[in-house]
Amino acid sequence: NNKRLVAPSILAADFANLEKDITMINNSDADWFHVDIMDGVFVPNISFGFPVMQAVAKHARKPLDVHLMIVDPDRYLQAFKDSGASIITVHYEACTHLHRTLSAIKELGCQAGVALNPHTPVQFLKDIIADIDMVCIMSVNPGFGGQKFIANTYSKIKELRQLTAGVNDNLLIEVDGGVTLSNAAQLVEAGADVLVAGSFVFNASSPTDAIHELKNIEGP
Ligand code: DX5
Ligand code: ZN
Repeated sequence: NNKRLVAPSILAADFANLEKDITMINNSDADWFHVDIMDGVFVPNISFGFPVMQAVAKHARKPLDVHLMIVDPDRYLQAFKDSGASIITVHYEACTHLHRTLSAIKELGCQAGVALNPHTPVQFLKDIIADIDMVCIMSVNPGFGGQKFIANTYSKIKELRQLTAGVNDNLLIEVDGGVTLSNAAQLVEAGADVLVAGSFVFNASSPTDAIHELKNIEGP
């Protein structure tokens, strides 16, 4: 799998010393910054908003992969673009008119992603699969870092790979939640392209080494 990317989640970073962690990611093997936006409505937690994201964007030298865990994301797409987003991922469960939302993201010049909660079948994307740049399969219930990985994720990745075959072979499959070295190889083997990792990276004695290890695990 030559597309494999690593996106450390800054939700687990030291918010009182963000520049240090951003510089660490800039100098690491990481491909993107994963930016978790939580509104306290779609998920039972609030993370941070535009001022923090803009501060991250100012120092980041890699694309910002913005994961919107918010209701009615259409209202804020322009603001996230203006705050430095390269990829904007919305939740399937938060979008009544998903096709319209994805079109709006692309019109802004961003890549368009769709995230699926653990209970949402990948088959729900069947009729829109050609219009999606990335699917983020949640391997925990969104809202918090440091949760336990849900093993059903492997079969969802495989099923999504079958769904994209011949229809959208460029679609990236991202996995988010509870990713560590103990499940990363199996995730890549199942068909994952992008590994998001928060606590595994930032709780490591060497976050730089943790990122390097994720980037270099044996794939298929
Ligand atoms: C969860 C977030 C994740 C989280 C991952 O709602 O979407 O991106 O930061 O953190 P870990 O890797 O600790 O599960
Ligand atoms: Zn996330």
